Amino acid sequence: MSALPGSSEGTAVTGLDSSAVEVHGDLPPLTETTRAECREIMARYPVPRSALLPMLHLVQSVQGYVSPEGVALCAQELGLTKAEVGAVATFYTMFKRRPTGRHLVSVCTNTLCAVLGGQKIYDEVAAELGVHHDETTADGTITLEHAECLAACDYAPVVTVDYEFYDQQDVAAALELVAALRRGEKPDPTRGAPLTDFRGVSRQLAGFSQHADAAAAQAAVDGPSAGVPTLRGVRLAAERGEAAPAMPAAETAAPAEAGTPDRTPTGDGGTPGAQAADAEVAAAGNPAERSGAEQNHPDRPEPAGRAAADRDAPAPDADGQAQSGSGTSVQREV
Ligand code: FES
Repeated sequence: MSALPGSSEGTAVTGLDSSAVEVHGDLPPLTETTRAECREIMARYPVPRSALLPMLHLVQSVQGYVSPEGVALCAQELGLTKAEVGAVATFYTMFKRRPTGRHLVSVCTNTLCAVLGGQKIYDEVAAELGVHHDETTADGTITLEHAECLAACDYAPVVTVDYEFYDQQDVAAALELVAALRRGEKPDPTRGAPLTDFRGVSRQLAGFSQHADAAAAQAAVDGPSAGVPTLRGVRLAAERGEAAPAMPAAETAAPAEAGTPDRTPTGDGGTPGAQAADAEVAAAGNPAERSGAEQNHPDRPEPAGRAAADRDAPAPDADGQAQSGSGTSVQREV
């Protein structure tokens, strides 16, 4: 259950009065070792605050969620406000606002998985465990969540446990998987690294190996990930002799990004991109073709909700900051 908006708990974790969070006692403390590891992470980056995401994973590896104590530690070490840290921690779904069970089971209910049975799997697993989204079983073994696309559509429907893949699941297989987890077993994922647990994988995400040396880590983690369905498109293209168009040679001027209209003035009131689009509209053989050509015209007004300032906003620099001007489409990293 979440704290009420405006409660002291919400303020403690996020620095924002309106965020629902929960404070829990009896957590393993964040020690001086944790602080030293935070500094080790910070040292990996040219700009220390770029270390915030792995630092939050480190906090989760100790306490099982992003606790108020963890937010305060990150803020203190990085010279940020708790509100700034909280804004990041509450934006990404991988950062949890309440303690997570030993394992995090994520069932993809996005479109492809859903139509192939993902929603049915989620419903049956939820009923079996007696929990709903973002809730933990009474024995503390499993936190269940429904997930948006887990980037494994080629193996749909997909379930992950602590972010390791269990491909092409059905209800029976998923129920057996959660039963095994509750028995304390760690079934082998279909591919990739072996299963650990939520805190263990959080430590990996923070950039710390659980293995004795590099060779052991490589042997354990570098499992096969791309399989036959993943590579089917590549195989078919090779069989058909198809290849992606070659990249144009670098020219003196910086090339436009893919999909960016060419706005180079030509001196006659248009741009090469606009002239080509004009020709495409003029050559359209029917209303549908004309409509499509007009939709792609670089001079077409931006759709409602997307300001021209966003469209033309400068690319972010290496730190994710807009170089000048403003625009909501440029996501700022804190
Ligand atoms: S829709 Fe489920 S992994 Fe993409």
